[in-house]
Amino acid sequence: GDTVRYEAESATLSAGGTIDSNHVGFSGTGFANATNAAGSYVEWTVNAAAAGQATLEFGYANGTTAARPVDIAVNGTVVASGVTFPGTGAWTTWSAVSRTANLVAGSNTIRVTATTADGPANLDYLDV
Ligand code: GCU
Repeated sequence: GDTVRYEAESATLSAGGTIDSNHVGFSGTGFANATNAAGSYVEWTVNAAAAGQATLEFGYANGTTAARPVDIAVNGTVVASGVTFPGTGAWTTWSAVSRTANLVAGSNTIRVTATTADGPANLDYLDV
């Protein structure tokens, strides 16, 4: 079906995370700046018309030279571990990382959780 964009500004962030707009080029009105800590996360609730495999595309920026790995969990179960979000060259340079995952029909939670002390990259949106 058609891709639906879920902006990070409508996601849930772990404690201390903020929705920022100080690095231009993002989609919508801002992006998620989760805390620089292992375990810090951004979680979206997305709707799937039918059960089955879907492509999850995360828009992001990482202005450092170190990749920012995350685990991706669907409905509380990690479905992809250590997914790297490489440096994009600048906090204002936005790119995307995609993975496929199985969703259930209806509401699904998609959580990306940092696995290193750097936290996740700045996350702009999730396209499903
Ligand atoms: C900088 C940048 C933030 C980013 C942070 C980080 O402070 O301005 O947008 O989130 O680095 O390292 O995660």
